[in-house]
Amino acid sequence: MAGGRPASASAHLGARDARLSRLSGKSWPEGVLLDALDLSPTLDVLDVGAGDGRLVRELARRAHVGRVVGVDPTPEPGVQPASAEALPFPDASFDVVLFARVLAHLPDQARALAEARRVLRPGGRVWVAAHGPAQLRATWAALGQPLAPGKTQPEPALTLTCPLTVTADDARFLLDTYGEEAEVSPHLFSVQDAAQLLVWLLEP
Ligand SMILES: C[S@@+](CC[C@H](N)C(=O)[O-])C[C@H]1O[C@@H](n2cnc3c(N)ncnc32)[C@H](O)[C@@H]1O
Repeated sequence: MAGGRPASASAHLGARDARLSRLSGKSWPEGVLLDALDLSPTLDVLDVGAGDGRLVRELARRAHVGRVVGVDPTPEPGVQPASAEALPFPDASFDVVLFARVLAHLPDQARALAEARRVLRPGGRVWVAAHGPAQLRATWAALGQPLAPGKTQPEPALTLTCPLTVTADDARFLLDTYGEEAEVSPHLFSVQDAAQLLVWLLEP
């Protein structure tokens, strides 16, 4: 989706994440991601495609003392307006650049990654996170929805998995957040499932 997203997509994502957080008992996905990355609190962090700024807020909640900036072409409060392909920062400005569930939405991923490397200090890290193929696999199977055929991906550095139990009511709710239609057969639920995030560390 070039240059932003409709407000309803953001609302759907927020509603879905809130439900997955409740079901897994974890703050999904920002809390789970930050737990795994275990960033030193003094690092300067840029969150590209920050959306509603939840990762920025979560770092503040964790008393992160380094600079934390979120950018998004459709910014919400606490996020600066900017695109991944033209970051408004000098070279070598940040220790960490994060792309959380963003890269697939970008029209020019190579340019975005080059920009991330440009604003990164020597020795800094670029982390890319995306939902993995096991994201809600059992729920989709119970709904009779074929999963997208697997794409060949480089090995992630981390695979973050949050087990959860999905009831028929949850399945209806989740389907709605995806704008999907399918019959929910209550006898096929509950299912044991998982929210999943794959995380890659870019080579310098
Ligand atoms: C699925 S949301 C993820 C938001 C947030 N990172 C999260 O994990 O909750 C994808 C985000 O990418 C943003 N986006 C779309 N095009 C972009 C671009 N060219 N540069 C930066 N962000 C972009 C959208 O506005 C949206 O906020």
